[in-house]
Amino acid sequence: MAVKKITEYPQKVLAEVGKPVTEFNDELAALCADMFDTMYDAEGVGLAAPQIGLNLRLFVMDCEGVKLIAANPEIVHTEGEQSGTEGCLSVGKVPAVVVRPMKAMLKAQDENGEWFEREAEGYAARAFMHETDHCDGTLFIDRLPKMRRDMVIKRFKKEKSWK
Ligand code: NI
Repeated sequence: MAVKKITEYPQKVLAEVGKPVTEFNDELAALCADMFDTMYDAEGVGLAAPQIGLNLRLFVMDCEGVKLIAANPEIVHTEGEQSGTEGCLSVGKVPAVVVRPMKAMLKAQDENGEWFEREAEGYAARAFMHETDHCDGTLFIDRLPKMRRDMVIKRFKKEKSWK
């Protein structure tokens, strides 16, 4: 078990577009195992590689029965709309309401490089989009109106200063 240190806002790697995963080998499998360990340790439902300081298009998630590894993820289709609370391990889990599509179709490669598509709804769809965003250098706060974004950052900084 290897729990990695979680990269937090405003570290630069979180705002960078990730590089594609090109090698599907034991090293990648070990990295994914560490990412699951780190995610479970932090009691998160998803974790993307930039959140452990790696500029890579890769995430893991385990959310409402959807457990998977996604390399080079893309959201290929969305439907509907949902408004719900979201937080991010890189922003101290400070919650904020984010409007996103209700359903999302994820296209990605598994740890062996096999392409797959998976559809999810509700919270799991939200995780697909949140984690894919991480691979594009986008944080959930970037999807908030400026005032609410500033409030989340302010609360995050305040909570950090208490630790
Ligand atoms: Ni996040």
